[in-house]
Amino acid sequence: MPTETVYGLAADAANPQAVAKVFAAKRRPASHPLIVHITDPKDMSKWAKDIPEPAYKLASHFWPGPLTLVLKRQPHVDDAITAGQETIALRIPHHPIALALIAAFGGGLVAPSANRFTRISPTTANAVRDELGDEVDLILDGGSCEVGLESTILDLSTEQPCILRPGMISANEIAAVIGVTVAEQRQDTPVTTRAPGMHHLHYAPRTLTRLLPSSELQQTLAALPPADLPVACLVWSDVVLPELSECHYVKMPADANAYAHDLYDVLRQVDQQQYRCIFIEAMADVETWHAILDRLQKASAKE
Ligand code: TXA
Ligand code: MG
Repeated sequence: MPTETVYGLAADAANPQAVAKVFAAKRRPASHPLIVHITDPKDMSKWAKDIPEPAYKLASHFWPGPLTLVLKRQPHVDDAITAGQETIALRIPHHPIALALIAAFGGGLVAPSANRFTRISPTTANAVRDELGDEVDLILDGGSCEVGLESTILDLSTEQPCILRPGMISANEIAAVIGVTVAEQRQDTPVTTRAPGMHHLHYAPRTLTRLLPSSELQQTLAALPPADLPVACLVWSDVVLPELSECHYVKMPADANAYAHDLYDVLRQVDQQQYRCIFIEAMADVETWHAILDRLQKASAKE
């Protein structure tokens, strides 16, 4: 199903066999928990217990929208969904088709991003077909996803609210609503236990990908030996780069929301060509670009 962030592979969250099929289709290890998608904040209590006040404030402020809340789980929740953890991740997506589907179904739907494990999340129906093909019965085409990056994941099951995965809803926006500072999980630990899906091989193109500041990009491209060509290069600024016949430049938006919307689609397209390397111009790690930079760092982590 389409959502405003990325396409999700949806299944009945109350049916362990359906949940098992999701893991199989994605080739996803059982240690990676799933998000349950609902349509009404009142349904939080069907999945979570001891829900703190900030959860309701955030739900009424940001839902439907690209924010996932991690809460203490109800005992009945399938262990496969939570990967055996005592918490459950919940979100109301902001997409008419997703909302209509969940409402018509009448229960919660697990929906991990509809890609193979560690690959780039799909933001169009065609990308889902490329990723999952015959593994899925039906693809609901809701057009291109408006946000284009996965939701912000906020852990509210501990004393201090903590962002486990940055997204286009920022820590400061969340803090402004709940009046408490929000921590951010350090991203330099390769495999984390609390958000197991955040390890460094996620969101990676197959092609070698390098993230470089503008000046370094200039120098690197100018000095590229012919054997290292052809390459693709994603540039957002007006930096002057060498004119190389075998360097395919992609002009990216200088606006963070527009950049997020385009990113995965562009990465997918250049990844399908036979480039030796995908170069990406880095940006300053200011709040508006934080989630994008997080994904770009992961995309280039193989190096
Ligand atoms: O935007 C999104 O969140 C998309 C759309 C389809 O809703 N979904 C998505 O799901 O990105 P997925 O499964 O690809 O990523 C979910 C992330 C994983 O990194 C997982 O480890 C984390 O959420 N997660 C799920 N349940 C958790 C829990 N109880 N505690 C901590 N992290 C959890
Ligand atoms: Mg995913």
